[in-house]
Amino acid sequence: MAPSSKAAPVRIAPSILAADFARLGEEVRAVTAAGADWIHIDIMDGHFVPNLTIGPGVVKALRAHCDLPFDVHLMISPVDYMIEPFAAAGADIISLHPEAGPHLHRSLQTIRGLGKKAGVVLNPATPVAMVDEVMDMVDLILVMSVNPGFGGQAFIESQLDKIAALRTRIDAHVKAGGQPIDLEVDGGIDRETAPRAIAAGANVLVAGTATFRGGPDSYADNIAAMRGAG
Ligand code: DX5
Ligand code: ZN
Repeated sequence: MAPSSKAAPVRIAPSILAADFARLGEEVRAVTAAGADWIHIDIMDGHFVPNLTIGPGVVKALRAHCDLPFDVHLMISPVDYMIEPFAAAGADIISLHPEAGPHLHRSLQTIRGLGKKAGVVLNPATPVAMVDEVMDMVDLILVMSVNPGFGGQAFIESQLDKIAALRTRIDAHVKAGGQPIDLEVDGGIDRETAPRAIAAGANVLVAGTATFRGGPDSYADNIAAMRGAG
């Protein structure tokens, strides 16, 4: 595995999939106060992934509760028709899977055309090379360290090598004058896997179960531990 460049500070993005859905506004405020950097919002359609979550209406309602960047992870197919509604609802970063639509380049153009940051998501079986032709038009690459659809799954170890390979590509891209690209990891992140993902080169960690475990009194400790400050 290639060593991390240690470029950017580590950011923690709690996934509200593990929050109490009956009190989502309160939960978002609580993790914000506990030190979260971004709010990760999982959008599932029961078709691209075998689970259903929320639509733009809920994202819009949450916007009033929090000023942190909303990191919206679209797990829906087709995906293009929902980009504008999520942008209008208050998403700051919109990420999608290459398998979710026929024209990844066009989808990324659409996101950036709306003034939002664009992300591409790689499933565990999706090769690193999927990003090669779009490196100049993404603000974020998200490595799935579980198969998308559910929180609480075990971290897939093979994704550490993928993170390291992407770190090497991103650093070379930036060194050659390209725009900065965040490298995010999503799935099975906890106190044990977080430092390993960071060492491999990730600079944004999504964590649902490990953030919300223990209730609001534990959120600050949970977040600090994953950031490496606990
Ligand atoms: C899975 C989602 C993840 C999920 C992570 O499809 O993309 O964001 O919430 O949950 P944990 O952190 O519990 O693995
Ligand atoms: Zn996610």
